Amino acid sequence: MAELAGVSVRTLHHYDDIGLVQPSERTGGGYRAYSAGDVERLREVLAFRRLGFGLREIADLVDDPATDAVARLHRLRGLLVEQRDRTAAMVTAIDKELEERAMGIRTTPEEQLKMVGAQLYEVIGSDYATTRRTEPRIAAQVWDALGDARTVLNVGAGTGSYEPPDRAVTAVEPSAVMRAQRPAGAAPCVAASAESLPFADQSFDAAMAFSTVHHWQDPIAGLREMRRVARRVVVFTHDASDAGWRHRFWLSRDYLPEVADLVVGRPSVDRLAAAIGARMEPVLVPWDCADGFFEAYWRRPEAYLDEPVRRAMSVWTRVGPAAERRAVRSLREDLASGRWAERNRDLVGLDAAELGLRLLVA
Ligand SMILES: C[S@@+](CC[C@H](N)C(=O)[O-])C[C@H]1O[C@@H](n2cnc3c(N)ncnc32)[C@H](O)[C@@H]1O
Repeated sequence: MAELAGVSVRTLHHYDDIGLVQPSERTGGGYRAYSAGDVERLREVLAFRRLGFGLREIADLVDDPATDAVARLHRLRGLLVEQRDRTAAMVTAIDKELEERAMGIRTTPEEQLKMVGAQLYEVIGSDYATTRRTEPRIAAQVWDALGDARTVLNVGAGTGSYEPPDRAVTAVEPSAVMRAQRPAGAAPCVAASAESLPFADQSFDAAMAFSTVHHWQDPIAGLREMRRVARRVVVFTHDASDAGWRHRFWLSRDYLPEVADLVVGRPSVDRLAAAIGARMEPVLVPWDCADGFFEAYWRRPEAYLDEPVRRAMSVWTRVGPAAERRAVRSLREDLASGRWAERNRDLVGLDAAELGLRLLVA
C-alpha cells in the first residue's frame, strides 16, 4: 500500500494511529489490509495533504457527514484548479518582473510579494493576534445582521475574530500563517479563497467576511461566491471613495496620501453592494476600539508610532517602507509640537467616529 501510494509505511501507521485512515482488516500475520474503500479515503487524505491542509482539518473534511465522495471530489477539483491558476499567475508575474528589471524599473514591496506567489498575510501575519481581536460593539452589529442564521461561513477568517460563539461556524482562510494562529477549539477552517468556495449552493444560512474583501484578487467574484453558498451575506469593509474613508480619516488624509494608490482599480463600495444587492449601514469606530485595524486608533494617535501595531495593519506594508518612515516621522513631530492636537481638536470629545467603514447586508 505504501509503495502504491508513494508514502512511507510510517505515514500509514501514523494515519492508522490517529484514526485518519484505518484499514478495515488485519491479515492472519497481523499486517494491515486495505479495502477499496480504505484506498479511496487514503487517496482523498493524500490529495488534501498535498494542497497544504493540516491533518486535523483533513479529518474534519473527510468525516464531514454533510458531504459524500462526489462532493469531496468536486471540492478537490476546485482547489486544484485554483492552485494551477495561481501558479500560472506567478509565472506571468515573474515574466513581468524580468521585463521590468531589464528596463531598470524597480518593483514595489506588494508587487514583489506577488512575484513569489505569496499571500500578503503569509508575510505579515505572524503577530496578527497580538493586536487584532474582536471589538464587541462592532461584533454586536455584525451578529445582529446575521439574523437567525444557525450555520455561518466566515470567509477570510484569519485568526477567528468576530466568529459568533453561539452558531455553527465554518471558516475559510487561504493563509497557513493565519490558520496556525486560530485558538484551540476555534471553528474548523478550510484552506481556500473567496473567489472559489469549495461548498455546494446554499449550503449555509449566512456567509460573513470581515475586513478582508480589499485583499481578494477579485472581490466581485468572491462576493458572488458568498451569495451562491449562503442565503444571507454580511460584509464589513470600507468606502474607499474620496468622500469616504480616505478623506475622513486624518491618518490617510494628512500623513499617508499613498493609500490612494492602493484603491486604484478596486471596485467601489457601491459596486460591491450592487453585485450582491446589499443594503449598506455605517459602522462607527469606538474611541477605545479593541481591534487594531487601520482606523482603530483615531483618538489615540501615539499608537501609530508603535511598530508592532503598524505591522498588523496591511496598509503600512502595502505603501512600502519609504512612505511608512515619512508618515511616522511626520506624525511624531506633529504630536510633539501640538500640531496634531490643534488640527484634530474636534475629535477629542467624540466617543465614536464615522470613518467610512460600512456593513453590507444582503
Ligand atoms: C485583515 S485580515 C482579516 C481576518 C479576520 N477576518 C479578522 O477580522 O481578523 C484579512 C484576511 O483575508 C485573507 N485573504 C486574503 N486573500 C483572500 C482571499 N482571496 N479569499 C479569502 N481570504 C483572503 C488574508 O489571508 C487574511 O487572513
